[in-house]
Parts: sequence; C-alpha cells; structure tokens
Amino acid sequence: MKQRKKFFGANWKMYKNMKDAEIFFQSALSLKWEKETVFFPPTHLLASLQEKFSKDFKIGAQNCYFEKEGAFTGEISYQMLLDEKINYALIGHSERRLIFKESDELLCKKASVCLSNGLKVIFCVGETLEEREKGKEFEIVENQIKNGLKGIKVDNSSDLIIAYEPVWAIGTGKTATPEDAEKMHAFIRKILQENGFESEFIRIIYGGSVKPENIKELMKQPNIDGGLVGGASLKPESFIQIVNY
Ligand code: 13P
Repeated sequence: MKQRKKFFGANWKMYKNMKDAEIFFQSALSLKWEKETVFFPPTHLLASLQEKFSKDFKIGAQNCYFEKEGAFTGEISYQMLLDEKINYALIGHSERRLIFKESDELLCKKASVCLSNGLKVIFCVGETLEEREKGKEFEIVENQIKNGLKGIKVDNSSDLIIAYEPVWAIGTGKTATPEDAEKMHAFIRKILQENGFESEFIRIIYGGSVKPENIKELMKQPNIDGGLVGGASLKPESFIQIVNY
C-alpha cells in the first residue's frame, strides 16, 4: 500500500514582520526538519521569503482568490502565487469562514482553481463549539467537504490535504482528544471515499492547539497524517519538536 507521507503546516496567521520571519528561518536552517513541512506566512512576506529561503523551506499562502487578476481589492490570485513559485495554499480556514464569511461555494471555486492550476491545497474543515454541543459535528464536516469539494477531481492525491480543525480547539489550549480526532479523521476519510476521492492516499491532518506535549499521542492514531499548527509554529524550537515528534 502506498504510504501517506506525514505533513506539517505552520500557519503564522497575522503574525510576524519580515525581520521576525528572517530570524525564524535563519535559526530554522540549523535544525533538521524530518517531515514534509510548509510555512504559511502573511501575504506581504511571501515573495521575498520564497526568494530567500525556498532552497531549504517550502512556503505557502494562507488564502488565494480564484480569479487570475482584476478588480478584487485586497485579494491575491492563484496566478500571482504561481508567478512567485508558491505552490501551496490554505483554503477554508475557519477564520476565513467565520470572520470573513467565506461560503462553501466560494471555497469550492478557490480550491478547484488552485488544484487545476497546479497549486496544492490544504482544505480546512471543522465545527464550532455550539455545533459540537448540539451533536452536529459530523453533519457539519460532511457538508463542508461535500459542498467545498463539489465536482473537484485530483490527479495526484498528494495535492489535496484535508485539515480537520475544530474551531473550539483553535488558540484555546483545548485539544481534541486523540480518540475524538481519530473518529473525525476516519469519518472524513469515509466521506472522501463516498465522494469519489482516492481517500486512502489523501492526507488528513489535525489542527487546534497542537503542541510538543500532545503531538505524539495524536500521531499514534491511524488516520492522523500530520498537523496544522498556529501558535506553536511561531518559534522554531517548539515547531521542530512537533514536526520531529
Ligand atoms: P493553534 O495551533 O494556535 O490552536 O491554531 C491552529 C490553527 O488555526 C492552525 O491553522
């Protein structure tokens, strides 16, 4: 059976200026990163970080619009990313869904255009606390996948990664238990299968208060293929302990 290669993402959200990012990568250079790892800095740093550090690190975008160019103030297009040789994009992070009101329909267009133009997509899903308390977490995640990936075909299963990030675990210090996370990951794999994806080969990573202290237990679960890390990815010392768990 083809193995799913472990994957780790550092989502820097709206943190770090150019100087901070350079300091991070300078010290990260002396460490040995054992797994596939992609860094998602804020948009204004993408081109120069790519230019300076792409020999040693993979850089991705936190967002990507589906039009090539045009009057879309504040957006960055898939073509602009490709022009700078950025090959990864996060799509559908819960902060985009909840704060910026991005719908499943919009996210589907973004994911579809990225994938068909050669960008690899980390597609994020996850329920809110209120939805979990109502027992709706599986229904919510199923709909996010069905609607957000509607009509999408991937030639290479490694080009699409699903990140399960329960909203109540993001930045709260509260992680899903490894068992709860595993249950959802196994469910996501089943939904992917039912929707025509080669689900055995698609990586499903977990995000939400991942730390050096909890990564080992999470990674023991058969359907957890890596992590998407916010707070603990801002310092090389903590992030490397997660990646090299
Ligand atoms: P934290 O690791 O800070 O909880 O953030 C998770 C996240 O949103 C990664 O995309």
